[in-house]
Amino acid sequence: MSTRQHLYDGKAKTIFAGPDAHHLIQYFKDDATAYNAVKHDVIMGKGILNNLISEHIMGVVAKAGVDTHFVERLNEREQLIRKVEIVPVEVVVRNIASGSLVKRLSGDCIPVKDGDTLPAPLLEYYLKEDALNDPIIAAKHITTFGLASADELARINSMTATVNTVLTEMFMAIGIRLIDFKLEFGRLPPELGGEIILADEISPDNCRLWDVETGEKKDKDRFRQDLGGLIEAYTDIASRFGLNTAALSTTGADQ
Ligand code: TMP
Repeated sequence: MSTRQHLYDGKAKTIFAGPDAHHLIQYFKDDATAYNAVKHDVIMGKGILNNLISEHIMGVVAKAGVDTHFVERLNEREQLIRKVEIVPVEVVVRNIASGSLVKRLSGDCIPVKDGDTLPAPLLEYYLKEDALNDPIIAAKHITTFGLASADELARINSMTATVNTVLTEMFMAIGIRLIDFKLEFGRLPPELGGEIILADEISPDNCRLWDVETGEKKDKDRFRQDLGGLIEAYTDIASRFGLNTAALSTTGADQ
C-alpha cells in the first residue's frame, strides 16, 4: 500500500491526499462488498481492472461533454482526481428491470420481472448513509434537506441522462446490454466555481452488464449471487474495450 496521507477508506476504494489542495488520489482495492458490506471478500486483481475500465469510460464520457473528477491514471491501482465535496446521493439509472427494483416492487400492482425493458430510463436516488442502509429518496428530499440545490439537481439529472446515452452506446458496441448503473457527483470548491461534476468510478462494480448474445452477467452480480468468474467477466469487458490487461497476470495481488 502507498505511504501517502490516508484520508478516507471506502468499501472498494481508498482516498489519499493529492499533490496539491485541489487534487486527491483514488486507490482501487480488491475488496468486494454487497448488501451494505454484510457480504465481503477480496478478489485479487479486481481493483486493477476497475481502475483501467473506469479510466476508459470516464474518458469517453468527458469527450461527450460531461465534466468528471478524473484527471489521469497514475499506475495500476491509482488515479489522480479533482477534489470535490461528494453529494451524499447515489443516482441510479435503470434501463432494464433487475436487482432491488424487482425485489422491492414486483407484485400484483407492478408485475415487473427481472430482464423486462422499462418504457424509458428510470432515475432513482438513494441517500448515501450506510447506517440507514442507503434508503431510496425522492428528488424533493434532496432539495428539501439541502443535499443539493434545485439547479444542482437539474445539472445532475442532465449529466446522468447524457452518461446513460453514452454508456448504452459504448457497451452495445462491444456486445453488452447496459441494464442499470449508479453514479455519484461532487461539488468543486467555491474558489473553482462550485460546479457539480461526475465523481467516483464507472466500472462493472457499479453497473449491471449482460452479454447481448448469451445474457451472461459481466458485473458484480457474479459476486453478489455467488456465480464465480468475476475476474474473467471484468477482464472480458476490459478486453472488449481494447484495454491492456497484460499486467494482471504478474501483479494481480492487492499490494
Ligand atoms: P440495485 O438494483 O441493487 O439497487 O442496484 C442498481 C445499480 O446500482 C446496480 O448497477 C448496482 C449499482 N449499485 C451500486 O453501485 N452501489 C450500491 O450501493 C447499490 C445499492 C447499487
